[in-house]
Amino acid sequence: MSVAEHRIAGAEARGHGFIASSVGRKVIMAATGVILFAFVTVHMIGNLQAYLGAEGFNAYAKFLQTMLHGGGIWMFRAVMLAVTVVHIWAAVTLTLDNRTARPVGYRALQPIASTWASRTMRWSGVILAVFIVYHLLDLTTGTVHASFDPTNPYANFVNGFKVPAVAGFYILAQLCLGLHMWHGVWSFTQTLGLAHPSYDSLRRAFASGLTLLVVAVNISYPVAVLTGLIH
Ligand code: HEM
Repeated sequence: MSVAEHRIAGAEARGHGFIASSVGRKVIMAATGVILFAFVTVHMIGNLQAYLGAEGFNAYAKFLQTMLHGGGIWMFRAVMLAVTVVHIWAAVTLTLDNRTARPVGYRALQPIASTWASRTMRWSGVILAVFIVYHLLDLTTGTVHASFDPTNPYANFVNGFKVPAVAGFYILAQLCLGLHMWHGVWSFTQTLGLAHPSYDSLRRAFASGLTLLVVAVNISYPVAVLTGLIH
């Protein structure tokens, strides 16, 4: 079976319902994307506790780990894992289906913008996936952290970012997060039916404002440690 036949068979195997349709999977990708972006925004705000010092940050970390008698964090992890897997599944299957189809008329309308945006989404998404795995091994399990202390999340945060290569990778990942969020917020507002000339400036302001805020605050953490503001 050729690669094209294999992809067509894959698309046909998905059947003809809501999930099988590309619009259905775009809605699923938008809905899971909204949840992921909400998490990233809340996480960015929560980490602001680092500016309050060790006591505030560790108290916040302890609250997260012990909420609902310790069950809360596992419920949160299960939901985040499911949402992430579904988001990646929708992205991968839509990409494969798009390559199989030949939307000649559509491409003639928006040739450069659509391919540039989708290509950026793919590689920034892959780098983000690598970052998330690294980030969990770094600050949650401590597997790749040089001096991990499970009882002191603040020290892990500060000592981790003292290593310039670690801080540099976090900063690079946040720039990818910015690209991914910008296009993501732009596309999900389109999927949700808000792509209209009278809303476009609002959509652009929302996508840029939210992205800039999250990226700038997230980058401020490694920078604050490297410059000694957080120590
Ligand atoms: C510079 C930016 C970031 C900093 C300083 C940071 C900091 C942290 C810290 C300190 C923890 C561990 C909390 C604890 O042990 O209680 C953590 C966990 C986590 N972070 Fe981040 N984070 C950043 C960016 C991100 C981004 C961009 C994502 C996702 C795209 C992310 C996803 C997660 C996840 C999923 C967890 C695990 C929560 C758990 O199940 O324990 N983080 N982060």
